[in-house]
Amino acid sequence: MIDLIKKLSEAFGPAGREEETARLIRREVEQYVDETFTDVLGNLYAVRKGAGAKIMVAAHMDEIGVIVTFIEEKGFLRFSNVGGVSPFVLLGQRVVFADGTTGTVAMEKLDDIKKLAFDKMYIDIGASSREEASTRVKVGDMAVYQSQVSEAGNRIIGKAMDDRAGCVILIKALQELKNTNNTVYAVFTTQEEVGLRGARTASYRIDPDVALALDVTLVGDTPEPLYPMDVTLGRGPAIKVKDTSVICHPRLKGALVELAEKNNIPYQLEVLVAGGTDAGSIHLSREGVPSGVISVPCRHIHTPGEMIDLLDLENAVRLLVAFLEEPVDLEKIFPCQAG
Ligand code: CO
Ligand code: ZN
Repeated sequence: MIDLIKKLSEAFGPAGREEETARLIRREVEQYVDETFTDVLGNLYAVRKGAGAKIMVAAHMDEIGVIVTFIEEKGFLRFSNVGGVSPFVLLGQRVVFADGTTGTVAMEKLDDIKKLAFDKMYIDIGASSREEASTRVKVGDMAVYQSQVSEAGNRIIGKAMDDRAGCVILIKALQELKNTNNTVYAVFTTQEEVGLRGARTASYRIDPDVALALDVTLVGDTPEPLYPMDVTLGRGPAIKVKDTSVICHPRLKGALVELAEKNNIPYQLEVLVAGGTDAGSIHLSREGVPSGVISVPCRHIHTPGEMIDLLDLENAVRLLVAFLEEPVDLEKIFPCQAG
C-alpha cells in the first residue's frame, strides 16, 4: 500500500493535466475489471460488470497547482493558481513542471507580508532571459509542489494525498472485491479542484443508481484548527453527512453507518463547513442520484505536507469493499421508487 501511495502522490497531475496519474492508475486496475476507458474530460473508468445495481464510485486524480501566465524579460515566471493554493503556503516551495523542470517560488519586496498575493510572487527556474526560460516553459504550463512522500510512524506525509488517497482506496477495493452482483463503475475523475467538473460528465454518462465519492476531509485535532470539527486523524474513515457541495442521501449515509457497525469498522461522522467534493456534482446529475461520501481524515490539506493515517486508509478500503459486495436494496434507499 505504501509503495502505491508513494507512486501516486509523487505523480504529476494538476487539474486538466491528469494523464500521467491516469496512466499509472490504469496499470494497477486493468487486470481486475472487465473494461477500462477514458472520456473527453480525461476521466478514467474501470468497470466490473454485474446484474445488480449500478454503483458509481468516484475519486479525483487531479491536484492543486500553479499555471504560468507571463514570462518576464529576465526569465522569471509570473503565475496564477489552479485550485485552492495559498500564497503563504507556496512561498519558498519548489515546484515541478510536467517535463521535470523545477523552480523555486519567491516574492518581490513587500512592506507588509499580509499583502502577499500571487501578483507579488514569481517562479525562478534559473533562467537569465525570457528566451532561455521559453525553451523550458511556455505560458499555460502547469506545475505542482515538488514533494517526496515520507513515512512518520503509521502516518504518511506528502503532496496530493487530496485525492490520491481516495484513488488508492478505490484501486485497493477493486483489487480486493470478490463476489458482487453489482455493476461497479470506478471513476478516477478530473478537475475536481476547479469545480467538480469531471465527475459531472461522468455521472451523466453512467446514470448510476447510487454513487459514492472518496476524498479527504479536514480534521479538528490540530492546534487551533480552521474549524471546530469532530473528525480526528486515525479514528477511522469519516462518513460524510454534509459539506458545502452536498447533503448526503440520509438513507445511504445510514446504510454506510450500519455496514461499518456490522463489520466492526471504526468510523466517524463528518460535517465539513468549508469545502466540497465530487458528490456535489454527482447528486445533481440528471434527475438526481442518491450520493454519499467516504472521507479520509487529512491534516494540512492543500500543502506539500498533507498527512494521512494508514489505518484510516485500510479501514476505508474495508468499508468500501463491504458496500460494493452487499446487494444494494434500492427499495430501502429509495422508497419512492419502489412502486
Ligand atoms: Co482539494
Ligand atoms: Zn479532494
